[in-house]
Amino acid sequence: MMERGFWWMAAAGVSALLLLLPGTSVAAQKTNASTWQTLRGDVPIVIAKGGFSGLFPDSSSGAYLFAVAAGSPNTNFWCDVRLTKDGIGICLPNIKLDNCTTIANLFPQGKKDYLVNGIRTEGWFSVDFTFDDLANVTYVQGQVKSVPLWLNVQNAIFYSQHNLSMRSYILSITRNVVIDYISSPEIGFLTSLGTRLQKTKTKLVFRFLGEDVTEPSTNQTYGTLLKNLTFIKTFASGILVPKHYILPVTSDLYLEPYTSIVTDAHKEGLEIYAGDFVNDVAIPYNYSYDPLAEYLSFIDNDKFSVDGFLTDFPVTPAEAVGCFSHINKSSIDHGKPVIFSHNGASGDYPDCTDLAYQKAVDDGADIIDCPVQVTQDGVIICMSSIDLMGVTTVGQSPFRSRLSTIAELQSPPGIFTFNLTWDEINKNLTPSISSPFLNYNGMVRNPRSKNAGNFMTLSDFLSFAKGKAISGILINIEHAAFLAENIGISVADGVISALKDAGYNNQTTLDVIIQSSNSSVLTYMKQRTKYKLMYRVDESIQDASAPSITDIKKFADSVAVDTQSIYPVTRKFIVNGTHLTTSLQKAGLLVHVYVLMNEFVSQPWDFFSDPYVQLNSYVQGTDVDGIITDFPASARAYKRNLCRNLGDNTPNYMLPVQVGGLLQVIPNTAQPPALPPLPVLEDSDVVEPSLPPAVPIKPSPPTSSSPPQGNPSAPPSGVRALSPKSSAIVSMVVILAAVLFS
Ligand SMILES: *[C@@H]1O[C@H](CO)[C@@H](O)[C@H](O)[C@H]1NC(C)=O
Ligand SMILES: *[C@@H]1O[C@H](CO)[C@@H](O)[C@H](O)[C@H]1NC(C)=O
Ligand SMILES: *[C@@H]1O[C@H](CO)[C@@H](O)[C@H](O)[C@H]1NC(C)=O
Ligand SMILES: *[C@@H]1O[C@H](CO)[C@@H](O)[C@H](O)[C@H]1NC(C)=O
Ligand SMILES: *[C@@H]1O[C@H](CO)[C@@H](O)[C@H](O)[C@H]1NC(C)=O
Ligand SMILES: *[C@@H]1O[C@H](CO)[C@@H](O)[C@H](O)[C@H]1NC(C)=O
Ligand SMILES: *[C@@H]1O[C@H](CO)[C@@H](O)[C@H](O)[C@H]1NC(C)=O
Ligand SMILES: *[C@@H]1O[C@H](CO)[C@@H](O)[C@H](O)[C@H]1NC(C)=O
Ligand SMILES: *[C@@H]1O[C@H](CO)[C@@H](O)[C@H](O)[C@H]1NC(C)=O
Ligand SMILES: *[C@@H]1O[C@H](CO)[C@@H](O)[C@H](O)[C@H]1NC(C)=O
Ligand SMILES: *[C@@H]1O[C@H](CO)[C@@H](O)[C@H](O)[C@H]1NC(C)=O
Ligand SMILES: *[C@@H]1O[C@H](CO)[C@@H](O)[C@H](O)[C@H]1NC(C)=O
Repeated sequence: MMERGFWWMAAAGVSALLLLLPGTSVAAQKTNASTWQTLRGDVPIVIAKGGFSGLFPDSSSGAYLFAVAAGSPNTNFWCDVRLTKDGIGICLPNIKLDNCTTIANLFPQGKKDYLVNGIRTEGWFSVDFTFDDLANVTYVQGQVKSVPLWLNVQNAIFYSQHNLSMRSYILSITRNVVIDYISSPEIGFLTSLGTRLQKTKTKLVFRFLGEDVTEPSTNQTYGTLLKNLTFIKTFASGILVPKHYILPVTSDLYLEPYTSIVTDAHKEGLEIYAGDFVNDVAIPYNYSYDPLAEYLSFIDNDKFSVDGFLTDFPVTPAEAVGCFSHINKSSIDHGKPVIFSHNGASGDYPDCTDLAYQKAVDDGADIIDCPVQVTQDGVIICMSSIDLMGVTTVGQSPFRSRLSTIAELQSPPGIFTFNLTWDEINKNLTPSISSPFLNYNGMVRNPRSKNAGNFMTLSDFLSFAKGKAISGILINIEHAAFLAENIGISVADGVISALKDAGYNNQTTLDVIIQSSNSSVLTYMKQRTKYKLMYRVDESIQDASAPSITDIKKFADSVAVDTQSIYPVTRKFIVNGTHLTTSLQKAGLLVHVYVLMNEFVSQPWDFFSDPYVQLNSYVQGTDVDGIITDFPASARAYKRNLCRNLGDNTPNYMLPVQVGGLLQVIPNTAQPPALPPLPVLEDSDVVEPSLPPAVPIKPSPPTSSSPPQGNPSAPPSGVRALSPKSSAIVSMVVILAAVLFS
């Protein structure tokens, strides 16, 4: 599992944490119960494992409080119950205290060596400490009252070996508190409770561990026990299984077909809960890094619905259940926010290939995009980079010798599109999928599509787009001046004539948008066409000066700004929100944000590793007009969700996050370095000399040293720099007693 941002929790007070909480309204579940294929048609529940443990230390008070505030009304609070020497229950995610608390520092002599289910285990154990001993290890905050509770008892046998009775403890608390669920992987423990809880509403759930693990009271493996659900039904009303029991996954991370376990359990009258859901690990490639899509595959698949999810990130299943299930997947609305593909659906297929464009259309992009480049023989093609190195197999081809260094374009040497003919590219090279996070634990995009698809010329793209269920196309033009002066090609004229040849006249049914980061290109197009014009600001800015806006208005009707220009980020924390969107929109410019990606490493902590929290924060939080994304499917799912226009009834989990809130709870000692103030866009940044005419190729190579263009695909800075390991991981214990009785 990836390291999480726990270190900043060190001294965070609960009152500070509450600042983060978006609001207090709790919308009623609007879903129609009879549409759920759960055991009894009930809405699937969310089980918050140790609270919001994806963001806070598992079982800490912060984790529970945050889960209460950000969760849905059907969120249950999971506590892994452990017993102290004096028989008091505490919530701790691991049987070893040293695994999840500071105990090793406080009781250096307390380490022991015990058998746990026959396995020698070394560490600090709660059975060696009294409740009072743990006073300094704990962080008691008894706020979580009258919420549905789910107690998990992982090791009852171990405690009985230490003369502590988990059964007596659990029965004693059920006299005062309503426990909704008790789960355990030990059959002996569940059967021992059986009759005593018959008159309560408490449900007993048998927890399956790995198929090969032995259940300690029967000595049968969980895999064997799974074969007789009739037997399980004799002592439990439900089962909790790792999610791969339901949807198996290959070793190279692809989904296999569903097993029959959910329908089998339901036939037997057993509820079935799926566990191990986490947003910040690599999930099967089939989900395109979208954790919400994973939840949906367990509840909204036409075959069955699980009865609930055990998760570290309770916000995401709450969204899936409350807003994203049972929606009409064929409705297409081209309104705001407009979904722009970025190099096609480049999260799934190599940039700008036929497959990437087809996927973008199928996934519901409103506008598909072609960044144009020029080949040696003057063919205009769609290619995300002027350098073929990163985006094709040119490095492994006979053309790898055509390397040149052209400082005007980029500092490292490259193999440029204008150094190969279209035939050389199309017949000899293969597209390569982009991998913006390769440096992050080797994270790659769908390996089975690594070299899939065909290259496209601009003309191919223009004929492809016709008749598709999209509202328009976007053509991005960069390096126009360089190409005119050094290659002798006017790419702007080439684009105009390609559009004309393909029948995209000024009144075409599809919108045509020309995008550039150089105003001279847009001015040139404005003088000759009536196409829409989008100015791409290629650096992060905090605002735009009035004169710069006045100028932009002269050549553009919309502006694309990067994610950081709206929510500046330092070390994965959002610093603050800027007023840029408002400044530009007030002047009558549309504002689009680039580039949104699903991969959790692309997002600040504030978005909970959930692409929909990010989308919601840009759309609801700042009212952007468009989203430029590698993953149009997720943006489309967002546009279709049922909770978009609920006003005051918007559920908590669908409110935009409080910007900068997370940064406020970081103790001063652990504050990330302040972000240097972002520049304000000035008139001088915007105004450019007019586009030079194309001239015959000069004999000598260019020697200019202007800086390389910004790369819109670059990950937000700070993603890779974060190293929580270097800071102390501090955790806390919540005393179950306090949680229950305060
Ligand atoms: C729920 O859906 C079913 C079938 O679509 C319908 O018969 C029923 O009236 C709906 N119930 C409510 C409360 O909307
Ligand atoms: C804590 O437990 C988890 C899972 O049981 C394990 O992966 C991890 O390495 C442990 N950490 C420490 C510090 O013991
Ligand atoms: C907890 O810390 C306080 C203050 O340092 C100390 O007086 C007390 O003895 C400690 N309690 C335990 C159980 O270690
Ligand atoms: C448990 O109790 C038995 C009987 O009183 C005793 O022999 C044994 O040592 C105790 N075990 C532990 C771990 O305290
Ligand atoms: C399970 O196996 C252990 C060790 O092999 C043995 O002591 C115990 O009696 C067995 N229990 C059952 C229910 O078979
Ligand atoms: C399954 O369990 C039931 C109930 O305990 C039992 O009657 C039946 O014989 C078991 N079936 C098999 C195949 O073991
Ligand atoms: C997951 O993706 C792989 C590769 O595309 C495909 O073969 C498999 O059928 C998919 N699994 C499911 C359940 O759709
Ligand atoms: C789903 O949306 C499509 C397109 O808007 C519409 O034609 C269809 O009737 C809708 N289906 C349902 C069940 O509402
Ligand atoms: C690539 O094209 C540029 C511009 O025409 C030229 O200066 C350079 O020498 C070419 N490089 C190679 C390796 O052909
Ligand atoms: C498009 O509009 C421009 C500017 O008004 C005009 O010069 C051009 O002829 C028009 N092109 C077509 C194909 O109608
Ligand atoms: C956050 O933004 C507001 C408005 O732009 C500004 O007044 C404030 O100083 C900023 N705070 C920080 C910490 O940057
Ligand atoms: C923008 O284009 C002009 C030519 O029209 C050129 O002189 C200028 O260097 C370009 N600006 C950038 C930042 O590339």
